Amino acid sequence: MYKNIYLSASIMCVNWLDTATDFKNLSKINELDYYHYDVVDGIFAPDFTMGSSIINNINNNISIPSDYHLMVDEPKRIFEMFNIKKSDMLTIHQESSRNLHRDLVSIRKLGAKVGVALSPSTTLDVLEYIIEDIDLVILMTVNPGFKGQKFIPQVLNKINKLNIMKKNNNLTFKISVDGNVNESTIPEIVSAGADVLVLGSSGLFIEDKSMIESIEKIKFAIDKGLK
Ligand code: DX5
Ligand code: ZN
Repeated sequence: MYKNIYLSASIMCVNWLDTATDFKNLSKINELDYYHYDVVDGIFAPDFTMGSSIINNINNNISIPSDYHLMVDEPKRIFEMFNIKKSDMLTIHQESSRNLHRDLVSIRKLGAKVGVALSPSTTLDVLEYIIEDIDLVILMTVNPGFKGQKFIPQVLNKINKLNIMKKNNNLTFKISVDGNVNESTIPEIVSAGADVLVLGSSGLFIEDKSMIESIEKIKFAIDKGLK
């Protein structure tokens, strides 16, 4: 955490040919709060990422809490596949759950913090009747599925709106922002009201740049956003 902003490292962006080095470097970042696991099923979102065998393997060897982001159709099918711990966050997409409230209750029963993610084109209205029951909203600033996509700037207004909605209702859920989060987008993301930053290929896993160097840039960008 840096100045009350949580940092979550997007594990799909590790260098898969040298994971040991990336995980060693990640463990040296004191400000890191979560490992963000993107699960993609090729149906709700195109492409495929990591399944439970890979994620649980990482998880069983580290102590940092998990930030699961399930970009899959009918996510309840795979809730039981992960070794959920109390400090973990498990987020599903509003667009891919057929019974959103029921699924959120199931996540709560598993012991994880409960999150709902919205794709860029989804309006905030869909949160109206579940907003008091959740701990996290992930606002996606790219379409679900791939790393390295372009930032969709309209979402800044959405972050701002959600933050106002949160304050007006005296709620404490966290606002997480996912997709092209880096030193140039962070100032506006943070000043709009984000609490959690998902750091992927554009912010943290950068070729020819050390993670320590990237984190310093990220901290500087957070400072700018909080001014
Ligand atoms: C996008 C994923 C993100 C991604 C963000 O579908 O949810 O977690 O890794 O990283 P960037 O956009 O910086 O590659
Ligand atoms: Zn994600």
